[in-house]
Amino acid sequence: MVKLTRLRMDFTLLLALLGGQAVHAAAPAGAAVFAAHCAVCHGQDALGVAGSFPPLKGQVTAFAKLPAGRDYLVTAVSGGLIGSVQVAGETYTGAMPAQNMLSEAEVAAVLSFLASDGGKAKTGVQAFDVKEIVAIRSRHPGVAGAAALALRPSLPGT
Ligand code: HEC
Repeated sequence: MVKLTRLRMDFTLLLALLGGQAVHAAAPAGAAVFAAHCAVCHGQDALGVAGSFPPLKGQVTAFAKLPAGRDYLVTAVSGGLIGSVQVAGETYTGAMPAQNMLSEAEVAAVLSFLASDGGKAKTGVQAFDVKEIVAIRSRHPGVAGAAALALRPSLPGT
C-alpha cells in the first residue's frame, strides 16, 4: 500500500516534469528569461542602475535594427562583456558574465522581448529565432569579453 502511493507520487512528478519541459522547449517566454537571468543587474524594467549596469530598454531595439548589432547582442549575451560602454552619455565600465546557461531558444526569446520593448511597442524590429542565434554563434565561435565588446557597432546619433 505504501509502495503504491509512492509509485503514484513518482508518476505524478514525472508527468509534471515532462509537462514543464515540453512547455519550456516549445516557447520560453522572454519575460520569464529576463526576470530570471537579467533583471538582477539590469533592473526589473531594463532601465539599468546608474553608474553600474547599463539600461537595455531602447538600446537592444536600436542594436537589433542593425545586422552588426544583432551579432553583437547575441555574442554579448552568450560570451559576456568586459570593458566600457557608453549609453545616453553615461559610461559604464564593468563586466557582464556570459549567460551561457541559456539555450538558443531562451536567448532568442529574451532578445525578442527586449527588442520589442517588452512586447508593448511596435518597434518594427524583426524577432530573433533559434536559427539566427545558431548562425550568429557559428560566425563568432568562442568570442567573449573584450572581443565581444569589440563587435559593438556605434548607433546612429551616438
Ligand atoms: C551580473 C550582472 C549582469 C547580468 C546577470 C546580466 N548583465 Fe548584461 N551587462 C552587465 C554589465 C555590467 C554590462 C556592461 C558591460 C561592460 O561594461 O563591458 C552589461 C551589458 C549588456 C549589454 C550591452 C549593452 C550595450 O549598450 O552595449 C547587453 C545587450 C546585455 N548586457 C544584455 C543582458 C541580458 C539579455 C541579460 C540576461 C540574459 C544580461 N545582460 C544579464 C551586467 C549583467
